[in-house]
Amino acid sequence: MKKIFLIIFLASINFTCCSSYSDISVSSPDGRVNIRFLLVENNKPAYMVFYDNKIIVDTSTLGFDLKNTGPFDRDFRIVNVSECSFSEVWRMPWGEQSEVLNNYNEIIVELQDETKLERKMNLVFRAFDDGIGFRYELPEQSNLKEVIIMDELTQFQLTGDHKSWWIPGDWDIYEHLYRTTRVSEIKVDPVMFENSLAQTYIPYNAVNTPVTMKTDDGIYLSFHEANLTNYSGMTLLIDNDKKLMQSELVGSPDESKVKVTTPFKTPWRTIQISETAGGLIESKLIVNLNEPNKLEDISWIKPMKYVGIWWEMHVDKSSWDMKSGKHGATTENAKRYIDFAAENNIDAVLIEGWNTGWEHWIGFEDREGVFDFVTPYSDYDLWEVVRYANEREIEIIMHHETSAAVQTYETQLDTAYSLCKRLGINAVKTGYVGKIIPKGEYHHGQYMVNHYRKVLESAAKYQIMINSHEPIKPTGIRRTFPNMVSREGLRGQEFNAWSQDGGNPPEHLTIVPFTRMLAGPIDFTPGIFDIKLEKYKPNNQVNTTLAHQLALYVVIYSPLQMAADLPENYEGHPAFQFIRDVGIDWEDSKVINGEIGDYVTIVRKEKETGNWFLGSITDENSREFTIDLSFLEPEVVYYSVIYKDAPDSHWDNNPTAYEIENRELTSSDTLNLILAEGGGAAVSFVKK
Ligand code: NOJ
Ligand code: CA
Repeated sequence: MKKIFLIIFLASINFTCCSSYSDISVSSPDGRVNIRFLLVENNKPAYMVFYDNKIIVDTSTLGFDLKNTGPFDRDFRIVNVSECSFSEVWRMPWGEQSEVLNNYNEIIVELQDETKLERKMNLVFRAFDDGIGFRYELPEQSNLKEVIIMDELTQFQLTGDHKSWWIPGDWDIYEHLYRTTRVSEIKVDPVMFENSLAQTYIPYNAVNTPVTMKTDDGIYLSFHEANLTNYSGMTLLIDNDKKLMQSELVGSPDESKVKVTTPFKTPWRTIQISETAGGLIESKLIVNLNEPNKLEDISWIKPMKYVGIWWEMHVDKSSWDMKSGKHGATTENAKRYIDFAAENNIDAVLIEGWNTGWEHWIGFEDREGVFDFVTPYSDYDLWEVVRYANEREIEIIMHHETSAAVQTYETQLDTAYSLCKRLGINAVKTGYVGKIIPKGEYHHGQYMVNHYRKVLESAAKYQIMINSHEPIKPTGIRRTFPNMVSREGLRGQEFNAWSQDGGNPPEHLTIVPFTRMLAGPIDFTPGIFDIKLEKYKPNNQVNTTLAHQLALYVVIYSPLQMAADLPENYEGHPAFQFIRDVGIDWEDSKVINGEIGDYVTIVRKEKETGNWFLGSITDENSREFTIDLSFLEPEVVYYSVIYKDAPDSHWDNNPTAYEIENRELTSSDTLNLILAEGGGAAVSFVKK
């Protein structure tokens, strides 16, 4: 009753201040999502979001604190309101599905402040069936040219103490385990930063996005941003008592957060809304809020499965540098991987540690100029490796570890990419381990957002795809630059090889699809079969069953998907057939079931063949599912191979036990799956 009164009250303020704009609101095409704009006390701009006529985000104010010209969040009047509707179907060149519906209703509220500066600000709101997006636009204006944003003051007023899945608002790295707590219990602790590669504790009680929540009414919400361009990444400051989140942009060497000139637009602030957890994964809101493809010829952009000289360094079998006497990237070893790829339906080989400088990689202050991206170690014949790969029709993925010496990389981009071009290499994995140089910049600040974009645009000129580690989070830029194929930006598989905290727990990947993956593709590097790492890392292990590792090729979406284990660990494993067979580019994807932090089952239909693949994973609890196969094409018989946990499988006690079952199945069948503790199941459905 109190709440209803509040709405009427606020609306009445709106009536008195601007009678011609009494009800400024916009609804989604299906009418279920509604955004209302209002001016509240002190004529502050604000918005509310309704879902099925119930408030899902309560009155939340908007604005900025600007250097020199002061607060820019109050004393506004409405100058104009316009509305429009939009609907299109666009094609993803690669992705979770071929066609995407982009359908929304929009309002633009033009505001002007009543100070003598008469500064202008527009607010654009879009209502989609799967959520909302809004952004600020500061038009060109004579009294506001150079804009120094000290703080963005965007609020998200939650309506309850929602269950939340979050990582701390680290400004340098997203490689944290997700915590599951109520909003009132979100407490960021300095200890959470200790096991991170960036190691800068940010003294705010803030979370990184996407942050996902479930209301007590069972509605799922995820807060993030789209089209992060020439701006700082947004973290969300948590007020535990008020259940209020407010934007806290990533900082820079001075006190400011963003420096821009008018006209400019901020990234979209997004809220995905769904009645099911799986609906969040199926939502295409983030890519829809990005601009269409800007690259002309994209025939060189191809999804690929790959292996690499990689895991062997993480488990200490070999090293990146030569000094250790066990250098991994030798010509001979590279050829061994190329042979393995050629024999196993794998498209590409990643080779790390091929260039000089690794003796000076981690923990050094003076990292500028260490890596040059063109000089191979003496035991690595770059041209011979590429020649051999060509002969065997295997692509090479180039590796550029920048050690976060950003200027060094920027000055060498053209040289490095020209070399790739001459070699016929069209994929580069980049890395940014360590604190950013110049000092005081952060991986997620405006300076680095612009750097990552510069890399992407330069790479596109040389027809190079980018897979970035220690990246800025994805915000749907892949739509505009489809050479942004994949990235890390989470606690990946590598933590299982060397982290001191026991690695990623069994529940980790039952949270990731509903959080980090909502932002975009993930280079997680699945497929570890030697789960206990006995030979090289007996004190570390992967905390899943082998069948769970297989399921990840479907559950975790990426157009670059690694078979991460050592080739020798795949030998003698019939289960490796699933990795050979599984698709890499999809016509369609559906989430069959899922609860965040518990389990998820996803099916994807391969482009061209029409074959389907299923991946199902669970946390530390075993589960049984009956899967309705009605997603299969009717009246088609599919040869199905089911890779599943054995009856006695267990992520810790017996992780490598699995069974393979062959069956013929149709769309009218159901499939019973039993997942062990920390287990999973993977199924290929191949048309007869
Ligand atoms: C960290 C990356 O995540 C990992 O994949 C890579 O092997 C190392 N850095 C070295 O660049
Ligand atoms: Ca990493």
